Amino acid sequence: MITSKSDIHGVKPVPGESLRKLFPFFTEGPGGCYLDSAATTQKPLVVLNALRHALVHTNANVHRGAYRLSAEASEQYDLTRTKIASLIGARSPSSIVFVRGATEAINLVAAGSDSLWSSGDTILLSLLEHHSNIVPWQMLAKRRGLNVAFADIREDGSLDVDDFRSKVRTLKPKLVAITQLANSLGTVPPLAELVALAKDAGAQVLVDGAQGITHLGVHVEDLGCDYYVFSGHKMYGPTGIGVLYGRPERLEKLYPLMGGGDMISFVSTDGFGLAEVPQRFEAGTPAFPEAIALGTAADFLSGFSRKAILDHEQALLESALEMLRGEPGVTPYGPATRGGHQAAVISFSIDRVHPHDFATIADTHNVQVRAGNHCAMPTLRRLGVQATVRLSFGLYSTKGDLQAVSQAIKEARRLFSA
Ligand code: ALA
Repeated sequence: MITSKSDIHGVKPVPGESLRKLFPFFTEGPGGCYLDSAATTQKPLVVLNALRHALVHTNANVHRGAYRLSAEASEQYDLTRTKIASLIGARSPSSIVFVRGATEAINLVAAGSDSLWSSGDTILLSLLEHHSNIVPWQMLAKRRGLNVAFADIREDGSLDVDDFRSKVRTLKPKLVAITQLANSLGTVPPLAELVALAKDAGAQVLVDGAQGITHLGVHVEDLGCDYYVFSGHKMYGPTGIGVLYGRPERLEKLYPLMGGGDMISFVSTDGFGLAEVPQRFEAGTPAFPEAIALGTAADFLSGFSRKAILDHEQALLESALEMLRGEPGVTPYGPATRGGHQAAVISFSIDRVHPHDFATIADTHNVQVRAGNHCAMPTLRRLGVQATVRLSFGLYSTKGDLQAVSQAIKEARRLFSA
């Protein structure tokens, strides 16, 4: 069992090369220059061990058994709620709902918020959103006759705050759903300002923290958002587990997405009663071993100072930008190209080289990058590009990874210049 921070890290918790020894991906697995952490992060050994421990030593269904093992599993499962509440600055563990990931969390809010809507109401998003923070709202809008509006972005991929302000004031959205850190460009919008503007106009605010939780951190009470969502697998935790944080008064009004066991207070042939929040949102057997391991991932992440994470990833971003600017025919995107706020992600294109071709060439250098639209078609369309190459960093990323990208760019140029 994990008992202390030193057990978690075993070495001084400093991001960079030395941290790789904590990640079996680098010591036993394929290793290489993994630059796709925005898609999923590698897992530290402590998280893998926690998952194994849960499956081997406390594998009994939670909230159901009268025997000791089940009670222990339930205790560990509920302890993760406390750890997550503390990680994100939520006042109460009952504000933490376990879901499969950020996508499910947003769908839950979109599908369960029926009582909020009247035909003609508006939902305000931004052009920085991932498809998972667009499509659930479009589906809801179609069902309920709502409008979905988008705050614009500027040429450099930064959010156009004036446009956001004006749309909040004129369209009077009932709900604003916005990313904390755009997965496609790395844009970091001025979230506190946006939340304040939306709240002043009476809107509820959902923040997509799928990237932000890992690279920026959050304090939901200070931020004042109504909902905050994220996935475990992008914060060094397991897949299949994620979190919906909701303010208590919001969760009380939200209707569950799924019915079944463990979400009821009673069931009769005439009907059922809902369990308390958050249980009412967790129908069926939850992914409890994954949730327990997510608690360990939260411990792992909390073992680093936020400044150390920011400094490390910012230094990589600056080096990446410098490297890309030095390569002929390469166009980097994102606010950092004009001195704006960007984190942990950088997208670029190479003249005459399709991003997919580049990703294949990079792979031969053992460099893993993502190429395509990054599930953010509206963002890329607004910038006038169909696809980009994306580098995204984690605690284990290094400047050596960037040198390998530079080699791959040179080779791609050589291959495609003929
Ligand atoms: N949303 C993930 C990404 O940005 C999959 O790659």
